[in-house]
Amino acid sequence: MKNDLIINAIKVKTEKYQKVFSVSDNSELGEFALANGLQVNDAYTAARDAYKIWSEVSTYEKTELIKRVAEELILRKEEIAKLLSHEVGKPYASALDEVVRSAEFIYTSCEIAKSMEGRVLDSGMMRGYKHSQKVSIVTKVPIGVVLCISPFNYPINLSVSKIVPALLAGNTVVFKPATQGSLVAYILAEIFSKNLPTGSLNFITGKGAEIGDLLVQNENVDMVNFTGSTEVGKHIYSVLAESSQRKVGFKTPLMELGGKDVAIVTKKADVQKSVQQIVKGAFSYSGQRCTAVKKVLIQGDIFDVFLSLLQIEMNKLKVGSPLDTNVVITPLISTSAANYAEELFHDAVSKGMNFINPFKRDKNLIYPNILFSSATFDEKKIKEIRIFDEEQFAPILPVFQVETIDQAIKLANLSEYGLQSDVFTQDINEAFYIANQLESSTIQINAKSDRGPDNFPFAGTKNSGIGVQGMKDAIESMSIDKQIVVNF
Ligand code: NAP
Ligand code: G3P
Repeated sequence: MKNDLIINAIKVKTEKYQKVFSVSDNSELGEFALANGLQVNDAYTAARDAYKIWSEVSTYEKTELIKRVAEELILRKEEIAKLLSHEVGKPYASALDEVVRSAEFIYTSCEIAKSMEGRVLDSGMMRGYKHSQKVSIVTKVPIGVVLCISPFNYPINLSVSKIVPALLAGNTVVFKPATQGSLVAYILAEIFSKNLPTGSLNFITGKGAEIGDLLVQNENVDMVNFTGSTEVGKHIYSVLAESSQRKVGFKTPLMELGGKDVAIVTKKADVQKSVQQIVKGAFSYSGQRCTAVKKVLIQGDIFDVFLSLLQIEMNKLKVGSPLDTNVVITPLISTSAANYAEELFHDAVSKGMNFINPFKRDKNLIYPNILFSSATFDEKKIKEIRIFDEEQFAPILPVFQVETIDQAIKLANLSEYGLQSDVFTQDINEAFYIANQLESSTIQINAKSDRGPDNFPFAGTKNSGIGVQGMKDAIESMSIDKQIVVNF
């Protein structure tokens, strides 16, 4: 498989291609094209030209065309899931679910788009104006050309959840997937491209570090919709701001970034259920989810029992190849990701944390583990333990004991991130007391963090993002309000 770029619905060859190897067995999966600056420009020119046509297509017609993408995803779900599984090391069952979830995302988003309404406002509610003296008709209009950049861990779903709302809002798209994920993303781009008017979606591949700035700075970018790390998100933000100085208008970013989701378990929690949720949340797909549970704070003397139950559940997890049945822990996406996880583990141990199992690694496969501390660290000391607030993106879970609920809240908020947090307690008043004080965008009560269901809004505070995605929310985030005021 040697994949080209797709610009104006034409397969475009490049001078250079890069090979992609399976995370599972290191077999060669194929090659993707490394775009150059001229091709980046061509993709935007195509998107700009297509915008004139696509933005005029009725919502009904748009949904009829986009739904064909969902149909094909379902028809080819096994083929796509198998490649996805190899390419990013996701267990096959989750990969299959990702493809089906993406098709469902498309169907429901199409229904939502058709039901979205504008507003009519009357001047009469304001001092000095008569009833119906002025009437405002407000509708949503597209922004223009949206650059969609997706991360490696959900190469289909996090691409679809950008591209589809962008298109439904009437925008056209330049789509750049992650390097590891480019092969499966090509299939998606091909399906979109053949079902939509020419140039509505253009597919550019290449290494983010090499073509990222060219993509973001391009004069035809009206919005960047990015999901990935906070580090790259901040870089894109500054490049966009800098390039906006040379352009007409302020170019807005929409970003879902890193997370360090904390689970707070109080003395009033249902211990069994909380343990199951936390193990699922922390270890599924080897912890490579922005919404993975990435640290746990346990109140008081349930700590020892809770920890031993966590250990029992964790040790049940099957480790192996993504294509094995029932496997949960698979090799991490890259050697640098595995090195980073190992570094965080040893740093924590050197700073006084204990561990359940000795650190075990086989190439990029990191065996699941729990770091724990029943000592009460002060704020300064706990922040020195890197895994306390750095995103491990690996199956290693740090667990801390706290004395009081207020201490848990304080430590939970001692974070640069604000994606989601979880509160485990059977006391609803306690749950709300904690939830109201946590600084993350979403608080889950008695369940692990989760982006879904996909119709819910998804956003991050602090360094976890800017703007809100979801279904309706994403369509709105990629539109602007336009009003026509009738003066009677
Ligand atoms: P990443 O390294 O930040 O890469 C994300 C995307 O940005 C990739 O397509 C990457 O391309 C591209 N990129 C890299 N440098 C760029 C640049 N200078 N300009 C423009 N694009 C650039 O993240 P990742 O490792 O793929 O994903 C893991 C991270 O994403 C974690 O931090 C995780 O928390 C976060 N994430 C957040 C959410 C959320 O919804 N909040 C969801 C999923 C993941 P290359 O692959 O070619 O470098
Ligand atoms: O890291 C990807 C993020 O969007 C998580 O999605 O469905 O695993 O909560 P989900």
